[in-house]
Amino acid sequence: MLIKSTLLIECGSRKDGNGAYLADMIVEKYANENVKRVNLRDLRYSGCLACRKCKDQDSLCVQRDDLTPLFAGLAEVDRLVLIAPNYMGFVNGDTKQFTDRWYCMKDTRKISRFKEGAKLLFLFTQGSALRDHGDNAQHWMKRIADSYSLGFYGITVPNCAYDNHDGVRLKKEEIMMSISFFG
Ligand SMILES: Cc1cc2nc3c(=O)[nH]c(=O)nc-3n(C[C@H](O)[C@H](O)[C@H](O)COP(=O)(O)O)c2cc1C
Repeated sequence: MLIKSTLLIECGSRKDGNGAYLADMIVEKYANENVKRVNLRDLRYSGCLACRKCKDQDSLCVQRDDLTPLFAGLAEVDRLVLIAPNYMGFVNGDTKQFTDRWYCMKDTRKISRFKEGAKLLFLFTQGSALRDHGDNAQHWMKRIADSYSLGFYGITVPNCAYDNHDGVRLKKEEIMMSISFFG
């Protein structure tokens, strides 16, 4: 059996927050496989410069920063897991800045550089109890996944308080079950 590779990217600001708690769960789930965990907060990187050099040169992003090795790895993974918080009704700025740089993840013919059959799991934490409060971000992320030919599964995790992980704990079984179906 081929061992799948998973790249888990934490996009939130807090290392002990709900996103980190979810990340621990995912890492545990895929412990027997090839799983790598990255926290955007540990990386120094800029936004997309719109230089279009990735298109002119048919290359990955020409900016040299901490996303450089990450992009090389992105093209190889079977599963990409993004965990992001809801800030002001949408993803936080770090998530947006990171995904803007995905411009280079399509070649000049607009063909995705992601591995064929690769999947994106998007876990979106939020304080609000209303699940549909996360819909804008879920739709946005799904459209990105579709345009990069990534299988998509998104889960909004409501009731994520600042000082405990009870909201995630409450949904743990449902989240893990959904992730298992996702593959
Ligand atoms: C700047 C900021 C803006 C936020 N805006 C929202 C919001 O619009 N809607 C919401 O439901 N929660 C909002 N929250 C709460 C976070 O989404 C929630 O606490 C989430 O769990 C944060 O992820 P973390 O625990 O991994 O840090 C906001 C939190 C911060 C710090």
